[in-house]
Amino acid sequence: MLAEKSTVLDDCRIIDFPKVTDYRGNLSFIEENHQIPFQIKRVYYLYDVPSGATRGGHAHRALHQMIIALSGSFDVIIDDGLRKQSFFLNRPHYGLYIPPRVWRELENFSSNSVALSLVSEVYDETDYVRDYQAFKRLVLNGWQ
Ligand code: TYD
Repeated sequence: MLAEKSTVLDDCRIIDFPKVTDYRGNLSFIEENHQIPFQIKRVYYLYDVPSGATRGGHAHRALHQMIIALSGSFDVIIDDGLRKQSFFLNRPHYGLYIPPRVWRELENFSSNSVALSLVSEVYDETDYVRDYQAFKRLVLNGWQ
């Protein structure tokens, strides 16, 4: 049997951050280039997400991202144009690493959830691909 060709989705992974357990409350920490494979240039977070809402719905050309459910839970569906995979995030010491060229959707937010993102670039709208058909064409053309 032929082995399946690896795709960019194989680089997406859950990272389990250090957890310092303490009777006063637990503590986790993240250092750029240690627990995560890029330098952090920006931090943003989603909160007050209404029930049934979907966030994301785009890919990035160059941006690396780590998504963490700081509170509550949600699903992240990632798609590299060839395959899709769904991750359920519900622990503040787990992060989902998403490299560039991956379409992502965030959905099924629980009430009071907070989705923290650590990313490798400052905000730049030209780094976004917001049209799914355009994304598929870029995948077919090797992102030329
Ligand atoms: P967007 O990245 O599309 O949100 P999400 O992927 O989480 O659904 O951003 C939504 C809006 O917020 C868009 O108009 C751009 C703006 N925005 C900023 O100004 N700075 C930022 O760092 C981010 C992430 C978004």
